[in-house]
Amino acid sequence: MSLYTEITKLPRDPIIGLTELFKNDRRVPKYNLGVGVYLDEHGNVPVLESVKRAAQLLYEKREPCAYLPMGGLDSFCEATKKLLFGPEHSSNANIMTTQALGGTGALRLGAELLQRTKKVPLVVISEPSWENHRNIFESAGFKVKTYPYYDPNTNCFLFTQLLTFLKKLPKHTTVILHANCHNPTGIDPSEEQWQEILDTIRKFDLIPFFDLAYQGFKNNFKDDASVLRTYIKFEKPFLVANSFSKNFSLYGERVGALSIFSGSLEECTKIQSHLKNIIRSLYSTPPTYGQKIVEKVLSNEKLYAIWQSEVQLMRGRITEMRNQLVKAFEEENLTSFSFIKDQHGMFSYSGLGTMHAVQLREKFGIYILDSGRICIAALNKNNLKYVTNAISTVINEKTIQAKSF
Ligand code: LMR
Repeated sequence: MSLYTEITKLPRDPIIGLTELFKNDRRVPKYNLGVGVYLDEHGNVPVLESVKRAAQLLYEKREPCAYLPMGGLDSFCEATKKLLFGPEHSSNANIMTTQALGGTGALRLGAELLQRTKKVPLVVISEPSWENHRNIFESAGFKVKTYPYYDPNTNCFLFTQLLTFLKKLPKHTTVILHANCHNPTGIDPSEEQWQEILDTIRKFDLIPFFDLAYQGFKNNFKDDASVLRTYIKFEKPFLVANSFSKNFSLYGERVGALSIFSGSLEECTKIQSHLKNIIRSLYSTPPTYGQKIVEKVLSNEKLYAIWQSEVQLMRGRITEMRNQLVKAFEEENLTSFSFIKDQHGMFSYSGLGTMHAVQLREKFGIYILDSGRICIAALNKNNLKYVTNAISTVINEKTIQAKSF
């Protein structure tokens, strides 16, 4: 009898597992519009100029590759704090920022810490949400439920339903919030709606855990972090997981951070000791290279300016592709896709279903998520027509099939 008889094979991961399928696909052409990776107009993952220059500076310095402290270097953490909360908070002792393995690593660290408090009865995520949110919090031992967020029939944000839901939650429920560019829908609350959501969370003693993976992909670095900057004024506990994967195009380096706001120095010291303990048991100390690049760019005025304009370019290209996509759909006589222009960030929640996704994959080598999420940031002038044509074909085929029943 094998040691592993009791474990069953799990389904593939809906995002990274899809990329594995894509890699094994030998057909030409094939396009991966599944995973959230920004590709340039030639279909390549860009190496940012700011990153190249930072890497050059690091190479010239050739620092030894010693162990980092468990929570990462102070200089990286301070630069991250400044980017998230503004210069006035870069040395705010009530925010503890810890280097983490990308946004996922930051969420998991936060989840492990919250589990140790023994005070969080439940974690709630949006319906729909990033495919990995449930997995992360359930893996850390939490019960996870969903809150109303998006109506696929009207493509609208369910603001009132969300507020009503929040008001019924038990104290200390942790609410996972997408700080901007909601993944997968691309629909964010308005400024006024955010204010009411945050007020409700504060009033009902809930714990917001902001996931900020797309800072700079909606408006600019400051505006895209405005919910954090609003919430910090309440001086109530909250957590932030931020990722540098997308805005630095440093996906494989796994650079991110977990920031925790807590009111007292005594509490901060306790929290820090637990974070160190969790990190030590999982991966001991964080990796060096990616965080050095990020730190260099964030702390060097010239590199920061270059980076800022590079993120602006990525943002602009995505907006351009949104507009082009809607236009191309119209040319295919698909006029019901104009809502794509109202969405923000890398993705479009297209309204296509699993059947469409399977057909796009099998017949055309186009990979989108089974939920219908399309990575707009992987479209370009060369693949746009092919993609819209294929989508039009699968939609029409499905309509014909439905009619013949
Ligand atoms: C995505 O949503 O596709 C990205 O955040 C990549 C990932 O880890 O799922």
